[in-house]
Amino acid sequence: MNELKLLLARDEIARRVADMGQQITRDAAGEPLVFIGVLKGAAIFLSDLVRNVDLDATFDFIGVASYGNLPGPKQENVWNSTGEVRLIKDVEHSLRGQNVILVEDILDTGLTLTFLKRLLLGHEPKSLRIAALLDKPERRRLKIEADYVGFTIPNEFVVGYGLDYAERYRNLPDIRILPGALPA
Ligand code: IMP
Ligand code: MG
Repeated sequence: MNELKLLLARDEIARRVADMGQQITRDAAGEPLVFIGVLKGAAIFLSDLVRNVDLDATFDFIGVASYGNLPGPKQENVWNSTGEVRLIKDVEHSLRGQNVILVEDILDTGLTLTFLKRLLLGHEPKSLRIAALLDKPERRRLKIEADYVGFTIPNEFVVGYGLDYAERYRNLPDIRILPGALPA
């Protein structure tokens, strides 16, 4: 796998995730937090992030799938999803009155996080913040930003540290560029 071009090395990721955890800790001002990771891509990021949070914290996972990945217009890359996001695993407990941090691997078009933000706001949490390890702002289709962003990256398809292509590469410790990725 090391033939794939390196974008972010494991040490760099570890340092940034530690900073994010410290920042989240400071911002929470001593209040307990509930982290909600988006399966499966955010599992590795969440597990590193929460170990850098020095607060009373719990975590859970939520699962979504996007319907029909259709190729985009010719000049665009072909990993466009159509915008139909559907819940496949809900959280176990109500988040009512809790301080929630929604944890995602990458903010791309914004469709997934827009869907999940709306869903979680329906629980009437005390607060809801978004932590995304990566942000690809060039691809945004809906206006949504994360409160905590690890790295802003160019418009490339990346894998590793939880991110997959057709379920592969999630176990790579670094984040690498997969050239010419086709729809999963
Ligand atoms: P969005 O709904 O377009 O913002 O996309 C978010 C989801 O698309 C992420 O949770 C990833 O599963 C997937 N995704 C977007 N870009 C990439 C990438 O570069 N590599 C791997 N997965 C990606
Ligand atoms: Mg994925």
